[in-house]
Amino acid sequence: CRRKMKEKVLELLENATGYLSGQYISEMLNVSRTAVWKNIVALREDGYEFDAVNKRGYRLTKRGDLFSEKRIAHWLEVYGANYRVHFKETVNSTNAWAKAFAENGDENILCVADEQSGGRGRRGRTWASKKGQDIFMSLLIKEKALKTENASMLTLVAALAVATGIKELTGLEPFIKWPNDIVIQGKKLCGILTEMSTDVDGLRYCVCGIGINVNGKEFPEEIKDKATSLYLESTQQIERAQLTALIAKKFLKYMAIFMETQDFSKLKKEYEDLLVNRGKKVKVLDSKGEYIATAKGIDERGELLVCTEDGKMKTIFSGEVSVRGVYGYC
Ligand code: BTN
Repeated sequence: CRRKMKEKVLELLENATGYLSGQYISEMLNVSRTAVWKNIVALREDGYEFDAVNKRGYRLTKRGDLFSEKRIAHWLEVYGANYRVHFKETVNSTNAWAKAFAENGDENILCVADEQSGGRGRRGRTWASKKGQDIFMSLLIKEKALKTENASMLTLVAALAVATGIKELTGLEPFIKWPNDIVIQGKKLCGILTEMSTDVDGLRYCVCGIGINVNGKEFPEEIKDKATSLYLESTQQIERAQLTALIAKKFLKYMAIFMETQDFSKLKKEYEDLLVNRGKKVKVLDSKGEYIATAKGIDERGELLVCTEDGKMKTIFSGEVSVRGVYGYC
Protein backbone atom coordinates (compact mmCIF):
# COMPACT_ATOMS: atom_id res chain seq x y z
CA CYS A 1 0.00 0.00 0.00
CA ARG A 2 1.22 3.51 -0.94
CA ARG A 3 1.12 4.83 2.65
CA LYS A 4 3.50 2.17 4.02
CA MET A 5 5.83 2.45 1.05
CA LYS A 6 5.96 6.22 1.47
CA GLU A 7 7.20 5.73 5.03
CA LYS A 8 9.82 3.24 3.90
CA VAL A 9 11.12 5.58 1.19
CA LEU A 10 11.25 8.40 3.73
CA GLU A 11 13.08 6.26 6.28
CA LEU A 12 15.77 5.33 3.75
CA LEU A 13 16.30 8.97 2.73
CA GLU A 14 16.28 10.19 6.32
CA ASN A 15 18.98 7.74 7.31
CA ALA A 16 21.16 8.36 4.26
CA THR A 17 24.18 10.61 4.55
CA GLY A 18 24.19 11.64 0.91
CA TYR A 19 22.19 11.00 -2.24
CA LEU A 20 20.33 7.74 -2.86
CA SER A 21 19.66 6.72 -6.43
CA GLY A 22 16.16 5.75 -7.55
CA GLN A 23 17.67 2.41 -8.60
CA TYR A 24 19.09 1.77 -5.11
CA ILE A 25 15.79 2.66 -3.39
CA SER A 26 13.80 0.48 -5.80
CA GLU A 27 16.11 -2.48 -5.14
CA MET A 28 16.09 -1.99 -1.36
CA LEU A 29 12.30 -1.83 -1.23
CA ASN A 30 11.66 -4.26 -4.04
CA VAL A 31 9.46 -1.89 -6.04
CA SER A 32 9.71 -0.30 -9.48
CA ARG A 33 11.51 2.99 -10.07
CA THR A 34 8.19 4.52 -11.05
CA ALA A 35 6.83 3.54 -7.63
CA VAL A 36 9.82 5.23 -5.98
CA TRP A 37 9.23 8.40 -7.98
CA LYS A 38 5.48 8.39 -7.15
CA ASN A 39 6.29 8.13 -3.45
CA ILE A 40 8.74 11.02 -3.71
CA VAL A 41 5.95 13.09 -5.30
CA ALA A 42 3.59 12.05 -2.47
CA LEU A 43 6.19 12.99 0.17
CA ARG A 44 6.62 16.40 -1.46
CA GLU A 45 2.88 16.88 -0.94
CA ASP A 46 3.47 16.21 2.79
CA GLY A 47 5.94 19.08 2.86
CA TYR A 48 9.22 17.15 2.45
CA GLU A 49 11.73 18.63 0.04
CA PHE A 50 14.34 16.72 -1.91
CA ASP A 51 17.26 17.69 -3.99
CA ALA A 52 17.06 15.53 -7.13
CA VAL A 53 20.27 15.33 -9.18
CA ASN A 54 20.67 13.47 -12.42
CA LYS A 55 22.69 10.22 -11.98
CA ARG A 56 23.09 10.76 -8.21
CA GLY A 57 19.49 10.51 -7.05
CA TYR A 58 17.61 12.08 -4.18
CA ARG A 59 18.67 13.80 -0.96
CA LEU A 60 16.28 14.97 1.76
CA THR A 61 16.71 18.73 2.25
CA LYS A 62 13.69 19.70 4.36
CA ARG A 63 11.53 17.71 6.74
CA GLY A 64 7.76 17.67 6.26
CA ASP A 65 4.77 16.39 8.14
CA LEU A 66 3.87 12.80 7.34
CA PHE A 67 1.26 11.95 9.97
CA SER A 68 0.73 8.22 10.33
CA GLU A 69 0.76 5.38 12.83
CA LYS A 70 4.20 4.27 11.72
CA ARG A 71 5.66 7.75 12.02
CA ILE A 72 4.25 8.23 15.52
CA ALA A 73 5.48 4.75 16.53
CA HIS A 74 8.92 5.67 15.16
CA TRP A 75 9.09 8.79 17.36
CA LEU A 76 7.67 6.96 20.40
CA GLU A 77 10.56 4.55 20.04
CA VAL A 78 13.06 7.40 19.70
CA TYR A 79 11.69 8.94 22.92
CA GLY A 80 11.45 5.57 24.68
CA ALA A 81 7.73 5.96 25.42
CA ASN A 82 5.79 2.77 25.80
CA TYR A 83 2.37 3.16 24.15
CA ARG A 84 0.34 1.21 21.69
CA VAL A 85 -0.50 3.84 19.12
CA HIS A 86 -3.61 3.75 16.94
CA PHE A 87 -4.04 6.20 14.11
CA LYS A 88 -6.95 6.99 11.81
CA GLU A 89 -7.22 9.60 9.09
CA THR A 90 -10.74 10.37 10.28
CA VAL A 91 -12.51 9.46 13.48
CA ASN A 92 -15.54 10.79 15.30
CA SER A 93 -13.60 11.75 18.45
CA THR A 94 -10.27 10.32 19.64
CA ASN A 95 -11.65 10.46 23.20
CA ALA A 96 -14.58 8.22 22.26
CA TRP A 97 -12.20 5.94 20.36
CA ALA A 98 -9.84 5.62 23.34
CA LYS A 99 -12.82 4.81 25.59
CA ALA A 100 -13.78 1.96 23.27
CA PHE A 101 -10.26 0.51 23.74
CA ALA A 102 -10.61 0.91 27.50
CA GLU A 103 -13.92 -0.95 27.50
CA ASN A 104 -12.21 -3.68 25.51
CA GLY A 105 -9.69 -4.17 28.32
CA ASP A 106 -6.74 -2.50 26.56
CA GLU A 107 -4.04 -0.44 28.28
CA ASN A 108 -1.24 1.96 27.32
CA ILE A 109 -3.31 3.26 24.44
CA LEU A 110 -2.64 6.41 22.46
CA CYS A 111 -5.30 7.28 19.88
CA VAL A 112 -4.47 9.85 17.25
CA ALA A 113 -6.38 11.21 14.26
CA ASP A 114 -5.72 13.57 11.40
CA GLU A 115 -9.34 14.75 11.45
CA GLN A 116 -12.34 14.42 13.78
CA SER A 117 -15.92 14.49 12.55
CA GLY A 118 -17.31 15.05 16.07
CA GLY A 119 -14.48 16.67 18.05
CA ARG A 120 -15.62 17.53 21.58
CA GLY A 121 -14.58 20.45 23.73
CA ARG A 122 -15.21 21.32 27.36
CA ARG A 123 -18.63 22.39 28.64
CA GLY A 124 -20.38 20.50 25.85
CA ARG A 125 -18.81 22.60 23.11
CA THR A 126 -17.54 21.22 19.82
CA TRP A 127 -13.84 21.26 18.88
CA ALA A 128 -13.08 22.28 15.30
CA SER A 129 -11.05 19.42 13.85
CA LYS A 130 -9.95 20.18 10.32
CA LYS A 131 -7.94 17.68 8.29
CA GLY A 132 -4.22 17.80 7.57
CA GLN A 133 -2.94 20.38 10.02
CA ASP A 134 -3.63 19.74 13.72
CA ILE A 135 -3.13 17.13 16.43
CA PHE A 136 -6.06 15.28 17.96
CA MET A 137 -4.74 12.80 20.50
CA SER A 138 -6.16 10.89 23.46
CA LEU A 139 -4.24 9.07 26.16
CA LEU A 140 -5.88 6.25 28.04
CA ILE A 141 -4.97 6.09 31.73
CA LYS A 142 -5.65 2.99 33.75
CA GLU A 143 -3.97 3.42 37.12
CA LYS A 144 -5.39 1.04 39.68
CA ALA A 145 -4.05 3.12 42.56
CA LEU A 146 -5.50 6.41 41.31
CA LYS A 147 -8.38 7.60 43.46
CA THR A 148 -11.49 9.03 41.81
CA GLU A 149 -11.24 12.30 43.74
CA ASN A 150 -7.73 12.90 42.34
CA ALA A 151 -8.46 12.08 38.71
CA SER A 152 -9.48 15.59 37.63
CA MET A 153 -5.88 16.70 38.28
CA LEU A 154 -4.77 14.66 35.25
CA THR A 155 -5.88 17.56 33.14
CA LEU A 156 -3.15 19.69 34.76
CA VAL A 157 -0.63 16.88 34.26
CA ALA A 158 -1.53 16.88 30.55
CA ALA A 159 -1.19 20.68 30.39
CA LEU A 160 2.36 20.41 31.76
CA ALA A 161 3.21 17.73 29.20
CA VAL A 162 1.88 19.81 26.30
CA ALA A 163 3.52 23.08 27.35
CA THR A 164 6.94 21.53 27.97
CA GLY A 165 6.72 19.33 24.85
CA ILE A 166 5.99 22.33 22.63
CA LYS A 167 8.79 24.30 24.23
CA GLU A 168 11.32 21.52 23.74
CA LEU A 169 10.44 20.90 20.10
CA THR A 170 9.85 24.43 18.83
CA GLY A 171 11.70 26.72 21.21
CA LEU A 172 8.48 28.72 21.63
CA GLU A 173 7.41 29.71 25.13
CA PRO A 174 3.85 28.60 25.69
CA PHE A 175 2.02 29.19 28.96
CA ILE A 176 -0.82 27.47 30.77
CA LYS A 177 -4.08 29.27 31.33
CA TRP A 178 -5.40 27.55 34.42
CA PRO A 179 -6.52 24.86 34.52
CA ASN A 180 -5.65 23.44 31.16
CA ASP A 181 -5.53 25.66 28.11
CA ILE A 182 -2.18 26.23 26.49
CA VAL A 183 -1.73 29.78 25.27
CA ILE A 184 0.87 31.81 23.47
CA GLN A 185 0.88 35.61 23.12
CA GLY A 186 -2.55 35.65 24.76
CA LYS A 187 -4.10 33.28 22.22
CA LYS A 188 -5.28 29.71 22.65
CA LEU A 189 -3.12 27.02 21.11
CA CYS A 190 -4.45 23.87 22.73
CA GLY A 191 -7.41 22.56 24.70
CA ILE A 192 -7.62 19.49 26.92
CA LEU A 193 -10.69 17.43 27.76
CA THR A 194 -10.35 14.80 30.48
CA GLU A 195 -13.14 12.28 30.85
CA MET A 196 -13.45 9.45 33.34
CA SER A 197 -15.42 6.30 33.92
CA THR A 198 -16.22 5.13 37.44
CA ASP A 199 -18.20 2.31 39.00
CA VAL A 200 -18.98 1.17 42.55
CA ASP A 201 -15.36 0.11 43.03
CA GLY A 202 -14.05 3.53 42.02
CA LEU A 203 -12.17 4.76 38.99
CA ARG A 204 -12.12 2.45 35.97
CA TYR A 205 -10.13 4.65 33.60
CA CYS A 206 -9.52 8.21 32.41
CA VAL A 207 -9.05 9.58 28.94
CA CYS A 208 -7.07 12.79 28.43
CA GLY A 209 -7.90 14.29 25.06
CA ILE A 210 -5.58 16.93 23.65
CA GLY A 211 -6.28 19.14 20.64
CA ILE A 212 -3.43 21.32 19.36
CA ASN A 213 -3.46 23.90 16.57
CA VAL A 214 -0.26 22.99 14.77
CA ASN A 215 0.23 23.81 11.09
CA GLY A 216 -2.88 25.87 10.33
CA LYS A 217 -2.10 29.11 8.52
CA GLU A 218 -5.32 31.00 9.21
CA PHE A 219 -8.32 31.14 11.51
CA PRO A 220 -11.87 32.29 10.85
CA GLU A 221 -12.45 35.99 11.46
CA GLU A 222 -14.53 35.42 14.62
CA ILE A 223 -11.76 33.59 16.52
CA LYS A 224 -8.68 35.19 14.96
CA ASP A 225 -8.00 37.29 18.06
CA LYS A 226 -8.37 34.35 20.44
CA ALA A 227 -6.71 31.41 18.68
CA THR A 228 -3.33 30.72 17.13
CA SER A 229 -1.25 27.82 15.81
CA LEU A 230 2.37 26.75 16.22
CA TYR A 231 2.94 27.60 12.56
CA LEU A 232 1.65 31.14 12.98
CA GLU A 233 3.86 31.66 16.04
CA SER A 234 7.04 30.11 14.65
CA THR A 235 6.54 30.24 10.85
CA GLN A 236 7.86 26.69 10.78
CA GLN A 237 6.04 23.56 9.76
CA ILE A 238 6.07 21.13 12.68
CA GLU A 239 6.15 17.36 12.27
CA ARG A 240 2.97 16.39 14.11
CA ALA A 241 4.06 12.77 14.63
CA GLN A 242 7.13 13.93 16.53
CA LEU A 243 5.24 16.42 18.70
CA THR A 244 2.53 13.84 19.46
CA ALA A 245 5.13 11.32 20.63
CA LEU A 246 7.06 13.89 22.65
CA ILE A 247 3.92 15.02 24.48
CA ALA A 248 2.93 11.40 25.16
CA LYS A 249 6.40 10.80 26.58
CA LYS A 250 6.26 13.94 28.76
CA PHE A 251 2.85 12.84 30.00
CA LEU A 252 4.36 9.57 31.24
CA LYS A 253 7.11 11.50 33.01
CA TYR A 254 4.76 13.92 34.81
CA MET A 255 2.24 11.17 35.49
CA ALA A 256 4.88 9.14 37.35
CA ILE A 257 5.74 12.16 39.52
CA PHE A 258 2.05 12.91 40.11
CA MET A 259 1.34 9.30 41.14
CA GLU A 260 3.99 9.43 43.89
CA THR A 261 1.69 11.67 45.94
CA GLN A 262 -1.50 11.82 43.83
CA ASP A 263 -1.39 15.57 44.09
CA PHE A 264 0.58 18.52 42.76
CA SER A 265 3.03 18.90 45.63
CA LYS A 266 6.00 17.90 43.44
CA LEU A 267 4.76 19.59 40.25
CA LYS A 268 3.40 22.83 41.70
CA LYS A 269 6.53 24.87 41.10
CA GLU A 270 6.94 23.79 37.47
CA TYR A 271 3.25 24.40 36.79
CA GLU A 272 3.28 27.83 38.45
CA ASP A 273 6.29 28.90 36.40
CA LEU A 274 4.18 28.28 33.31
CA LEU A 275 1.01 29.84 34.65
CA VAL A 276 0.02 32.75 32.41
CA ASN A 277 -2.36 34.20 35.01
CA ARG A 278 0.19 34.28 37.81
CA GLY A 279 0.36 37.68 39.49
CA LYS A 280 -2.26 39.01 37.07
CA LYS A 281 -5.76 40.26 37.59
CA VAL A 282 -8.42 37.77 36.56
CA LYS A 283 -12.16 37.89 36.28
CA VAL A 284 -13.71 34.94 38.11
CA LEU A 285 -17.19 33.89 37.08
CA ASP A 286 -18.93 31.57 39.51
CA SER A 287 -22.54 30.61 40.14
CA LYS A 288 -23.08 33.77 42.23
CA GLY A 289 -21.69 36.25 39.76
CA GLU A 290 -18.31 37.67 38.84
CA TYR A 291 -15.50 39.36 40.72
CA ILE A 292 -11.96 40.56 40.09
CA ALA A 293 -9.01 38.99 41.88
CA THR A 294 -5.27 38.48 41.50
CA ALA A 295 -4.11 34.95 40.63
CA LYS A 296 -1.39 33.82 43.03
CA GLY A 297 -0.65 30.24 42.03
CA ILE A 298 -2.06 26.78 42.65
CA ASP A 299 -2.36 24.64 45.75
CA GLU A 300 -1.42 20.98 46.07
CA ARG A 301 -4.77 19.89 44.64
CA GLY A 302 -4.22 21.96 41.54
CA GLU A 303 -6.82 24.52 42.54
CA LEU A 304 -6.25 28.16 41.68
CA LEU A 305 -5.42 30.51 44.55
CA VAL A 306 -6.60 34.08 44.13
CA CYS A 307 -6.55 37.17 46.29
CA THR A 308 -9.75 39.22 46.09
CA GLU A 309 -9.72 43.02 45.93
CA ASP A 310 -10.53 43.20 49.64
CA GLY A 311 -7.49 41.08 50.44
CA LYS A 312 -9.11 37.68 51.05
CA MET A 313 -7.48 34.49 49.73
CA LYS A 314 -9.85 32.21 47.86
CA THR A 315 -9.50 28.77 46.33
CA ILE A 316 -11.06 28.22 42.94
CA PHE A 317 -12.15 24.73 41.97
CA SER A 318 -12.06 24.00 38.26
CA GLY A 319 -15.32 23.01 36.66
CA GLU A 320 -17.38 25.36 38.81
CA VAL A 321 -16.00 28.58 37.49
CA SER A 322 -14.50 30.27 34.51
CA VAL A 323 -11.41 32.44 34.83
CA ARG A 324 -10.60 35.09 32.24
CA GLY A 325 -8.06 37.85 31.96
CA VAL A 326 -9.41 41.26 32.83
CA TYR A 327 -8.67 42.63 29.36
CA GLY A 328 -9.11 39.49 27.29
CA TYR A 329 -8.96 35.75 27.19
CA CYS A 330 -6.02 35.33 29.59
C1 BTN B 1 -11.46 22.54 25.18
O1 BTN B 1 -12.66 22.79 25.09
O2 BTN B 1 -10.62 23.42 25.33
C2 BTN B 1 -10.99 21.08 25.13
C3 BTN B 1 -10.78 20.59 23.73
C4 BTN B 1 -10.30 19.16 23.65
C5 BTN B 1 -10.18 18.69 22.22
C6 BTN B 1 -9.53 17.34 22.11
S1 BTN B 1 -9.10 16.93 20.44
C7 BTN B 1 -8.73 15.29 20.91
C8 BTN B 1 -9.79 14.88 21.90
N1 BTN B 1 -10.95 14.36 21.22
C9 BTN B 1 -12.04 15.14 21.40
O3 BTN B 1 -13.17 14.92 20.91
N2 BTN B 1 -11.73 16.18 22.17
C10 BTN B 1 -10.33 16.15 22.60
